[in-house]
Amino acid sequence: MSMRTLLVTGAAGFIGSNFVRMLARRREPVRIIALDKLTYAGNLANLADLLGDQVTFVRGDICNAELLDHVASEYRVSEVVHFAAESHVDRSILGSGPFVTTNVIGTQVLLDLAKNRKLDKFLYVSTDEVYGTLPEDQPDVKFTEETPLQPNSPYSASKAGGDCLVRSYFHTFHLPVLTTRCSNNYGPYHFPEKLIPLFVTNLMEDKQVPLYGDGKNVRDWLYVEDHCDAIWTVLNKGKFGEAYNVGGNNEMTNRQITEIILREMGKPWDKYVRYVQDRPGHDRRYAIDASKIKRECGWEPKFRFPEAIKTTIQWYRDNESWWRQIKSGEYLKYYDTQYGGR
Ligand code: NAD
Ligand code: TYD
Repeated sequence: MSMRTLLVTGAAGFIGSNFVRMLARRREPVRIIALDKLTYAGNLANLADLLGDQVTFVRGDICNAELLDHVASEYRVSEVVHFAAESHVDRSILGSGPFVTTNVIGTQVLLDLAKNRKLDKFLYVSTDEVYGTLPEDQPDVKFTEETPLQPNSPYSASKAGGDCLVRSYFHTFHLPVLTTRCSNNYGPYHFPEKLIPLFVTNLMEDKQVPLYGDGKNVRDWLYVEDHCDAIWTVLNKGKFGEAYNVGGNNEMTNRQITEIILREMGKPWDKYVRYVQDRPGHDRRYAIDASKIKRECGWEPKFRFPEAIKTTIQWYRDNESWWRQIKSGEYLKYYDTQYGGR
């Protein structure tokens, strides 16, 4: 049997780069074509130390069918692991165009690639946000894979669009697809516009942290390495056509998260927390029933929040130049020079 070659889209982003790093560290016997458009969220520095025999970087847009076909043929791609997306809810409220283009059309273009080239597997990294929101007064209710998709933000609506297309390619074309729907991730290489890295880096800069609304929105938090392990597990043990919820069994309000970060960083609440206007359409609660992936694939999270948040904060302390460059926009200037704005 020839070597498996994975086309990993969005590989220079937060979770994609952690996924490539995990496979390289574990010496999994796969070749990796790390494809990324390098939008504002993609950062080649996330992958730089991994490029070599096992991992090849290609800059490209998932909406570009011709480029994808060329890459698939040149590198003999056998499977797709599809992370690439516009991923920030707040940006999708400012403008939803790029979300529909990348998350819906880009996914469709990739599905056609897999269909035309008869690839062995196609895994779509979806999100628990496709299910919409849960009531806060019924703590026993969680999202299962049967929960209807009721997305509330342009981001989650565009992810649900991709999710439905993936499902349709299984039913219509028997494409060997797999879908994972994960809760909020945290860990190294997380772009500092999302809650945890924004708060940690703001506090390191001695700035305040903006808490939306009453700060009582609930999210389930999963360490990124657990998510990457779940994706690898589903890729190898999942049943085609099925979706798998992935969760950390770790529900917390944004206030609780903020308290833990402040305590860890030795900063008092009153001086550093600023309540700001709520996000429009802000989902109240996400909670995951992840019993299916445990039952069918034997996966469950290994990392616990109290320790993994410390590791995460320490990573931001040890990698100040990484996030300072992002916050200052230095790295975007670099790409303009390097790629001439392409
Ligand atoms: P991210 O924004 O850090 O990374 C996304 C990557 O995709 C970036 O490197 C970006 O350059 C690339 N990209 C964007 N548009 C592209 C295009 N048209 N062509 C090629 N590359 C493109 O996001 P992330 O947090 O790493 O999320 C990865 C995936 O996981 C997304 O599909 C997201 O919906 C999903 N997800 C994320 C979370 C989370 O908590 N971060 C939770 C559940 C699911
Ligand atoms: P975020 O990291 O944007 O993830 P998502 O909205 O996809 O779950 O936000 C996590 C939670 O934190 C969400 O309830 C919104 C809230 N939040 C703040 O209170 N302040 C902030 O500055 C940000 C970015 C998020």
